[in-house]
Amino acid sequence: MEIKNVAVIGAGTMGNGIAHVFVQSGFNVELCDVKNEYLERALATISKNMDRQIKKGVITEQDKNSALERIKPVVGIENLNKNNDLVIEAIIENKDAKLSVFKQLEDIIKPDSIFASNTSSISITEISSVCRADKFIGMHFMNPVPVMKLVEIIRGYSTTDETYATIRDLAVKLGKTPVEVQDYPGFISNRVLMPMINEAIFALYEGVASAEDIDTVMKLGMAHPMGPLTLADFIGLDVCLSIMNVLYEGFNDSKYRPCPLLKKMVAANKLGRKTGEGFFKY
Ligand SMILES: NC(=O)c1ccc[n+]([C@@H]2O[C@H](COP(=O)([O-])OP(=O)(O)OC[C@H]3O[C@@H](n4cnc5c(N)ncnc54)[C@H](O)[C@@H]3O)[C@@H](O)[C@H]2O)c1
Repeated sequence: MEIKNVAVIGAGTMGNGIAHVFVQSGFNVELCDVKNEYLERALATISKNMDRQIKKGVITEQDKNSALERIKPVVGIENLNKNNDLVIEAIIENKDAKLSVFKQLEDIIKPDSIFASNTSSISITEISSVCRADKFIGMHFMNPVPVMKLVEIIRGYSTTDETYATIRDLAVKLGKTPVEVQDYPGFISNRVLMPMINEAIFALYEGVASAEDIDTVMKLGMAHPMGPLTLADFIGLDVCLSIMNVLYEGFNDSKYRPCPLLKKMVAANKLGRKTGEGFFKY
């Protein structure tokens, strides 16, 4: 199946990045959100990020203009064109919200199109239960989308080989490196990353070392570009806690229990960069 027209649902951090890489690769994109102001903000962000690429010599002014012409902002899912070949959902990380969006999309979009979710941690098989499960897949882009090379492609229980092959080839066309992953909690990215962050928080909680020193060990000793506690602040401690809970409940294994310090900091609204304070002050 050839993909030409793509709808991206949710124009936040990830949605605007996903729309950016698709239009830059020649696809037509309908970018959809619940309010016009969110779409205007997303288009301004895409334009600014493309200006940065022009300065670096990655694209030309003309590439930018023709890419922006391929984005159509759409307020409300009900106003999407039914002939989109692929719909990628990037709304808030909430299972009920995602189920409701896909239930609606099932009635609107032509039946042979593919549905994908950019969820970081919710089961692809569960989300696909309300729509075309054979043509449903996880397409997990990384933040910031125009910069990061990886796309984790998650196969749900009923995802067909044809759907997988179409999405894998599409990721390559976008200039990304796809990795095939089965649908288990946290996929690979968050199953490996989050317990490492959680363990760094346990080390701080137990007084093994200071936050600065824990990050220094991982940066200088393991060549990580950013220490785990700085990274947790960047991701948001509420997001880290909710992913640890997905792992803990999904595997019913105490090795994934979130650190009490992480829970306490979320309760105190010390969520990292976005609230001005987490393990570090901003
Ligand atoms: N931020 C990250 O680093 C990151 C990385 C990988 C994956 N993800 C996943 O991507 C998804 C989106 O995350 P984000 O950080 O971009 O969130 P965000 O909060 O920045 O954006 C979500 C957008 O979805 C819109 N939205 C909500 N309900 C909608 C609906 N019914 N119809 C249309 N639009 C709707 C909101 O108005 C908002 O603009 C989540 O599932 C998240 O787990 C996030």
